[in-house]
Amino acid sequence: MEENVTVRRLGMEDYDALLALWLRAGLHSVKPQGRDSRAGIARQLATGVQTILGLEVDGRLVGAVVATHDSRKGWINRLAVDPEYRRRGYAARLIAAAEEVLREQGMRIIAALVESDNAPSYALFRKAGYVEIDRGIHYLTKRESDAV
Ligand SMILES: CC(C)(COP(=O)(O)OP(=O)(O)OC[C@H]1O[C@@H](n2cnc3c(N)ncnc32)[C@H](O)[C@@H]1OP(=O)(O)O)[C@@H](O)C(=O)NCCC(=O)NCCS
Repeated sequence: MEENVTVRRLGMEDYDALLALWLRAGLHSVKPQGRDSRAGIARQLATGVQTILGLEVDGRLVGAVVATHDSRKGWINRLAVDPEYRRRGYAARLIAAAEEVLREQGMRIIAALVESDNAPSYALFRKAGYVEIDRGIHYLTKRESDAV
């Protein structure tokens, strides 16, 4: 039987399914007590610069991505696909959908940060047309605590 695959914007009503997906997918640095808490996600969505897209197969959430921008660049964050649904092109489809949202928001540059040991994600973004501008780049952050 044909599977019904759809991509749609997620809202707070999808929070539990989204967090479960992130954890199932083994996404690094998920902070359920910090920025990924219910209140944290609600606050981010309320800014209007963050869009969360979900990919559903027969109504089950199996992929998601966060598209956001800083008014200069669009950022693709938190891309994750359920381990049981990988290598079917779903992440590529989510990237394309996130790019569409960001282009509609006026972004002409779209960027993603990929950890140096994440070969699948690196291969995915390269295939989607992303070019690494500086292999020697250092990613630095300042944060209040490890929980945020
Ligand atoms: C990275 C991830 C999102 C890829 O999801 P996916 O749905 O399996 O990816 P797709 O099927 O769309 O892959 C598209 C292309 O990316 C590349 N790719 C994806 N996974 C790959 C892997 N494990 N090894 C090598 N290349 C891979 C391939 O070129 C693939 O095309 P192909 O299948 O025709 O060869 C998924 O593995 C995941 O959720 N990982 C854990 C979370 C994570 O690391 N997210 C990224 C944070 S930056």
